[in-house]
Amino acid sequence: MRVAVLMGGNSAEREVSLETGKAIAGALRELGHQVLEVDAGTDLPLQLSAGKPDVAFLALHGRGGEDGCVQGLLEVMRIPYTGCGVLASAVTMDKVVTKELLSYHGVPVAGGVVASRGSDLDAVADTVAGELSYPVMVKPASEGSSIAVTEVGEPSGLRDALELVFDCDERALVERYVHGRLLTVGILGNEPRVLPVLEIKPREGFYDYRAKYEPGFTEYEVPAAISPPLAEAARDMSLTSFQVLGCEGISRVDIMLEHGTDELVVLEINTIPGMTETSLIPKAATAAGMSFEEVVAEVLEGARLKVSLAGDD
Ligand SMILES: Nc1ncnc2c1ncn2[C@@H]1O[C@H](COP(=O)(O)OP(=O)(O)O)[C@@H](O)[C@H]1O
Ligand SMILES: [Mg+2]
Repeated sequence: MRVAVLMGGNSAEREVSLETGKAIAGALRELGHQVLEVDAGTDLPLQLSAGKPDVAFLALHGRGGEDGCVQGLLEVMRIPYTGCGVLASAVTMDKVVTKELLSYHGVPVAGGVVASRGSDLDAVADTVAGELSYPVMVKPASEGSSIAVTEVGEPSGLRDALELVFDCDERALVERYVHGRLLTVGILGNEPRVLPVLEIKPREGFYDYRAKYEPGFTEYEVPAAISPPLAEAARDMSLTSFQVLGCEGISRVDIMLEHGTDELVVLEINTIPGMTETSLIPKAATAAGMSFEEVVAEVLEGARLKVSLAGDD
């Protein structure tokens, strides 16, 4: 098959996406496919028209690529593509909307306050003081890779953390800080297959940009050393989240396991998770006996157009 791997683009996660794209392209070649590596800039429609791929494999992270924009273009161009469709991509890119939908379906999420660029920050601080206790987590509604995510220990730090978010996003989420262990659950294929729970153990602090991408700052354990009922609950909760948000093909659900209460809280869903050989989904897949190439093959197999139009046969 002729497969275009879409990577790069113009999001804040461009560099990470290029790594993911190169790893996927390598695996696809191993599998015997003809691969076009496409840097998804503003000339993407031209590149796709010229390259005439049978299918697009999405390796884009963040806005413009993981949020439904490119998925919409591929629907218009009638090029089948991997992963989630337009709606699920757009919803999961927005942590505020994601949490509202998950709560509606009974999936536990961390309580929080939403603030918009231009809102009165003193009023926001009052609302936060009334509804949450410090520390709190401040993050953009629609970024990834822990960009502009800050743990704020006391009220005096809130303004700077919000301003950092407003440099890159319209809305900020101030969340209850969940003290506990960070887990992640990968889901693959259109069946779908739920991978073993992986625990992420940053050496210090939370799982920030450095802990994510610099070797040695984080340890990983898969399967996570948690009780079988908790692991089952985390996997069930992940599958429910995947289904109620309309995800397909591949996604990864980030969950906190709270100390003391053993409560599980969903933080977010990543619909185009990192896919270098050392990324989390490949690690969890290895624990389930799947190679990197098998993961890539399974995601590719699920590729399709999600919107049927008059004139399709
Ligand atoms: N409410 C929270 N309580 C405690 N830690 C959090 C909370 N929200 C996020 N974190 C930490 O910050 C990291 C990044 O946050 P996340 O919501 O997953 O955003 P991103 O899309 O940038 O990965 C998480 O992996 C976790 O370590
Ligand atoms: Mg995350």
